Amino acid sequence: MTDRQTTDAQARTYFEQLWRDGDHWDLDADPYEHAKYDAQLALLDADRGPGRRYGRALEIGCAAGAFTRRLAPRCERVVGVDIAQPAIARARERTTAANVEYEVANVMNWQQGLAGDWDLVVFAETICYLGWLYPFFDVAWLAHCIYEGTRPGGRLLLANTCGGTDDYLLKPWIIRTYHDLFRNTGFVTLQETMFRGVKNGVEIEALLTLAERPA
Ligand SMILES: C[S@@+](CC[C@H](N)C(=O)[O-])C[C@H]1O[C@@H](n2cnc3c(N)ncnc32)[C@H](O)[C@@H]1O
Repeated sequence: MTDRQTTDAQARTYFEQLWRDGDHWDLDADPYEHAKYDAQLALLDADRGPGRRYGRALEIGCAAGAFTRRLAPRCERVVGVDIAQPAIARARERTTAANVEYEVANVMNWQQGLAGDWDLVVFAETICYLGWLYPFFDVAWLAHCIYEGTRPGGRLLLANTCGGTDDYLLKPWIIRTYHDLFRNTGFVTLQETMFRGVKNGVEIEALLTLAERPA
């Protein structure tokens, strides 16, 4: 096995195990997560304007579809991708909207899927795990592929926890570097805001960025 295949196998095993044990992050039920989803949607709603919908949307690291289901009415079509088969199985069980499809895939090996001329890409609370497991160059190349796979005029929504937690994957200076990485690929920030809330009694911050691939 190459180093890359070993990392891919580790990533799949790790997240499949988490999801086999249930909803590790409590994404479906936790009020903090719901409020953060509402803040993400508020950015999109302000961007689209009344009565308008995005065309084709991609959600990377969609988990069991908690945000995907909220996104669906705002788009013509949504594709949710996650590395963990048990997460996608849950997502399929819980989603009734006909305009949503899910796929099990490691986004690091999904170049064909990324090249989708997407109108909107949502990438929330997932890049920290890529930066943990993969070399910086590979994460930077993914950012470039996402830029290339977004149609001119298309949008990128990033959401990443970056404060109030001891998790070393979520240090604010690392999270800001990820957001800067996308700016350096060519995305232009339209709106950026810090979402604040309380989860499990702890005050948490998340950086939300809505960006455009210039037309
Ligand atoms: C913290 S959850 C975030 C879920 C959702 N995006 C949200 O904001 O609520 C991270 C998700 O990323 C998925 N994930 C991790 N590495 C991935 C990869 N390389 N490709 C696709 N999905 C991945 C995990 O399985 C997990 O469901």
